[in-house]
Amino acid sequence: MFQHLDAYAGDPILSLNEAIQKDPRPHKVNVSIGIYFDDAGRIPVLDCVRQAEAQMLAEGSAKPYLPIEGAAAARSAVQALLFGAAHEAVASGRIATLQTIGSSGGLKVGADFIARWFPGSGIWVSDPTWDNHRAMFEGAGLAVHTYPYYDAATGGVKFDAMLQTLSDLPARSVVLLHACCHNPTGVDLSREQWRELCAVLKQRALLPYLDLAYQGYGDGIEEDAFAPRALAEAGLSFFIANSFSKSMSVYGERCGALSLVCPDAAQAERALGQLKATVRRNYSSPPLHAAGIVARVLGDPALRAGWEADVSAMRERILAMRRRLHALLTARLPGRELGYFLSQRGMFSYTGLSPAQVDRLREEFGIYLIRSGRICIAGLNSGNVERTAEAMAEVMR
Ligand code: LMR
Repeated sequence: MFQHLDAYAGDPILSLNEAIQKDPRPHKVNVSIGIYFDDAGRIPVLDCVRQAEAQMLAEGSAKPYLPIEGAAAARSAVQALLFGAAHEAVASGRIATLQTIGSSGGLKVGADFIARWFPGSGIWVSDPTWDNHRAMFEGAGLAVHTYPYYDAATGGVKFDAMLQTLSDLPARSVVLLHACCHNPTGVDLSREQWRELCAVLKQRALLPYLDLAYQGYGDGIEEDAFAPRALAEAGLSFFIANSFSKSMSVYGERCGALSLVCPDAAQAERALGQLKATVRRNYSSPPLHAAGIVARVLGDPALRAGWEADVSAMRERILAMRRRLHALLTARLPGRELGYFLSQRGMFSYTGLSPAQVDRLREEFGIYLIRSGRICIAGLNSGNVERTAEAMAEVMR
């Protein structure tokens, strides 16, 4: 019955995460997947999350299905987080928000919605982008193209080429943008570049789709929400899929949301209806436990304050590791341009290492990076950063 099935080649990120679990070497280093590890190499359980869960357990409430669109408290907390509670788009009810299964669930629901309601639209993603974007949108039946983004020569953005490509797209083309902490490069647009980009998106009547998976890991929780606010202020209609996996360290709980910012409340109501229809056809409704965590941590002032402090601490630890890695590599590779480790933001840096160099790091030193050369700085700690730098310098010489 199933002999005609192709073997699955494996996912470029998740397969590595499985391989490292099986690696018996005690000094292996996981700098592949986008997960925040603390200085002891553990995935932290944030105190605010622990307290929210304790409250839920103590209440001992029943476990009904959530509505298709998710819990109202979680949905409105997401809108306030992304745009500010007093934002005109929130107050006027022109944002349709669903709680989703992580932001991946949101991306997929949005992709299916586009395939159904914008059947002629292609989607343009940055070159490069998160490995799963292409698979996800192609899986929904959309044609996926790229726009220029990362400039290997400067370690920055090919901004003029990016704008030029977007300026030539047909109206209603979908443009996927990383709201902050670009994955995989760590190279973000400046605020001035976002403003220029908004003007092009508006002028060409394009449909932006923001992916905000690393809020708080760039410059701060509020600061990292600059892009959705800039797009809303420019009068654009757009999608935004956001995740709490990294910012609340709740990866397996699948806490995420999808919002569609619409021109007015009537269109938002229709959009919400069709997004609900899409969810019902896919997985019916989102998880109850995830809604409880998000609504409580964002809605309770004490838990919220604890969360904000934890996010700052995680961001600062990554910045410290960036500085340490940069210093160690600079000492070992004099004359080499390595400033990108300091200027890039979020969990990732794009090292420029070739697949062969990445393979050597894994095989000889037990250091796991993605084969694109992306390193997850959040996997470094005071116990492994020197060994990692030593090995990287060895393969880069
Ligand atoms: C990553 O890019 O490593 C993360 O977003 C995890 C994933 O699902 O790929």
